[in-house]
Amino acid sequence: MKALTALTLTLALASAVGAAPLIKENLATGFRDPMEVAIAPNGDFYVVEREGRVLRVNPNTGGTFVIGEVAVQALRGTDPKSNYGREDGLLGIALDPNFAKNQRLFLFFSAPDVVACRLSRFTLKDGKIDPASELKLLEIPTQRENKVCHLGGSVEFGPDGLLYVSIGDNTNPFESAGVAPIDNRDNRVEWDAQRSAGNTNDLRGKIIRIKPTETGYEIPPGNLFPKGTEGTRPEIYAMGCRNPFRISIDPKTKTLYWGEVGPDGRDNGDKGPRGHDEVNQAKAAGNFGWPFVIADNKAYPIRDFATNAVGKMTDPAAPENPGQRNTGLKKLPPAQPALIWYPYAKSDEFPAMGEGGRNAMAGPVFYHDPSRKINILGKEDDRTLLTYEWMRGKIFKAKLDANEKIEKLEVFMEKLVHPMDLEMDKDGSLVLLEYGSDWYFNKNGSVSRLRPDDGNKPPTITIKAAANTYSVDKAADPEGGKLVVTWYLTEGVSERKLGTGSTVTVPAGSFEEIRAVATDDKGAIAIARIPLATLGGLPTLALELGKTRDKPGFGESVNFKVKAERMPDAGQIKVRARYIPPTGHDAGGPEFPEDIAKLATASQCLACHQVDSGVVGPSYLDVALRYSGQADASARLKEKLKAGGAGVWGDVPMPPQVALKPENADKLIAAILSLSAGMTETRGTPVGNIRLAPEFGAEPGGAWEISAEAPSYAPARTRIPAK
Ligand code: HEC
Repeated sequence: MKALTALTLTLALASAVGAAPLIKENLATGFRDPMEVAIAPNGDFYVVEREGRVLRVNPNTGGTFVIGEVAVQALRGTDPKSNYGREDGLLGIALDPNFAKNQRLFLFFSAPDVVACRLSRFTLKDGKIDPASELKLLEIPTQRENKVCHLGGSVEFGPDGLLYVSIGDNTNPFESAGVAPIDNRDNRVEWDAQRSAGNTNDLRGKIIRIKPTETGYEIPPGNLFPKGTEGTRPEIYAMGCRNPFRISIDPKTKTLYWGEVGPDGRDNGDKGPRGHDEVNQAKAAGNFGWPFVIADNKAYPIRDFATNAVGKMTDPAAPENPGQRNTGLKKLPPAQPALIWYPYAKSDEFPAMGEGGRNAMAGPVFYHDPSRKINILGKEDDRTLLTYEWMRGKIFKAKLDANEKIEKLEVFMEKLVHPMDLEMDKDGSLVLLEYGSDWYFNKNGSVSRLRPDDGNKPPTITIKAAANTYSVDKAADPEGGKLVVTWYLTEGVSERKLGTGSTVTVPAGSFEEIRAVATDDKGAIAIARIPLATLGGLPTLALELGKTRDKPGFGESVNFKVKAERMPDAGQIKVRARYIPPTGHDAGGPEFPEDIAKLATASQCLACHQVDSGVVGPSYLDVALRYSGQADASARLKEKLKAGGAGVWGDVPMPPQVALKPENADKLIAAILSLSAGMTETRGTPVGNIRLAPEFGAEPGGAWEISAEAPSYAPARTRIPAK
């Protein structure tokens, strides 16, 4: 009997300064780099993850369901060395204002098939994203080479049904002395934000505002440039943004707020002021300065990067864009100062912001409403902008006066783990998305509810497992109230209630997770969970090999038996045997030679396929094994690359790889097909014989690696010496 320890997922955190302490109820964890959360009319949360998954969370049970995966260009956990498109991915989500009826949602992501960010509308079907429902609204060409950063990516609806999307300047932040990247030299495209944020004819470095329609979008009145103005884009609402990361819109005044991540410069110098992050406020469309002006309208001089000479100082009241790659207006609208601005060092103007790393974000505006169940702040704080800081792990409250000017700025809550999004729920509580502790490849992103401490602390609970029986290990309510424990099983995109009590038995079937929700007599909850499959620590398979002759050779057979505490469906089991030569080459698993890996990356194949994992398309190893020994495979697959199509591996089509040169297609297909050299596979049975690869030209005297795999199980691997 193996007892599993579950985490206690609820903790109360007292804020350090001023305000009444907040209680933090953790509702779901295990997210991988979550980027943005949207709250549905029925209270569910929709969360997007950087690498492309879209999740739904039921905040009442902690149930977390993967409702879709969008193909995106993103830095991947399986390829952590890649420096390609480092901030690309699935970046933002908003639900249609009429979501309850039309089940539509808007996603903003780095498209894998073109070098561009795309805003698409999708419709849910049976609770899942229907890929066929995609309506592409807008594509913004970007660059992904030379360490460009800044894609923004926040998507929000205003109270008037207009859709706002923030887009970063898509510029390399290095090698510009930590000031303005306005490098005009011919080969320095990616170091020039004059082509993007400062360009009235480009949607990068902007916040756009559009009115979605049935078939696309319209331009609402009041944007920065009237439709038809030469050298401008009518979608632009705010321009001159560096990396407008998370945005919010005042529900009453429609004022737009956003956090703006600033450049690195630590000191003021002749090339310009030190870097500041900003929280911005747009009561109307405007130019917010970058890359010519920053903070409270501190100007940068125009600078010649070839000679390092510092030239004319920008006039914030009449800024100009002299960039050689500027395709828009030369004379720009006057620059607007930030609402809050702060450098790395302690700010003279806003000392409450503290000091250190910076990453400003804007959250909701609080209005006191006695008719609402929860007011996160008191009546005296009516009209308070909540801002937060990804790096500093804090939420701030900026009390605004009747003219929306700051009266007071204070820390509201701290010790958060990279707060990534902050939304106000209908009941008045706050929904907080935390990214996780690392820059990339987190597995501990989470979503929590924040509410004022009304004296009722949430309970605690841990659970344990013994075979198929799960029971409460410890559960307690700090106030000694009565607890009810309800059990749920996650099953695909839905959940099954198993009943209440201290013990349950899991029925036969395949489930992702079991959860116990402890509810105290005043309704506070705590959730404990044990993954049964995909959400984290996977259940493992075990592999037993039958008696074989000492050191089996090429072409012989090995008897196997796959075991697990809870067996997967037999049809899902695959057993593989692979020869590892005595040199140990590829001992970690088959991989592409370096030149092929580069070619596959450059040809954008890896967005949908990895060597040993399928993302949108099949894994290349699966492709190789399927066509192993078929003489016409190479020709057929090359034809498939040219024409695209679906039906062999599922309903999702591969787009025609039009940009792929024939000689590169030859190289890629040859490399894919050779991945299965020395390998054999048996599918669909837990017990049987696997025939080892016949002689294939590798040096004898190595080892056989036998592995067993099934979806949502950790694989089993053993090695035996080969003849
Ligand atoms: C946008 C996603 C996407 C991209 C990009 C993509 N593929 Fe695919 N690929 C797929 C899908 C989906 C399938 C499965 C099609 C099917 O079921 O018939 C597939 C299938 C394949 C197959 C197997 C075809 C078959 O009929 O069995 C090969 C080989 C392949 N892709 C190679 C590549 C290569 C090489 C590239 C880069 C040049 C690439 N793919 C880019 C999505 C993609």
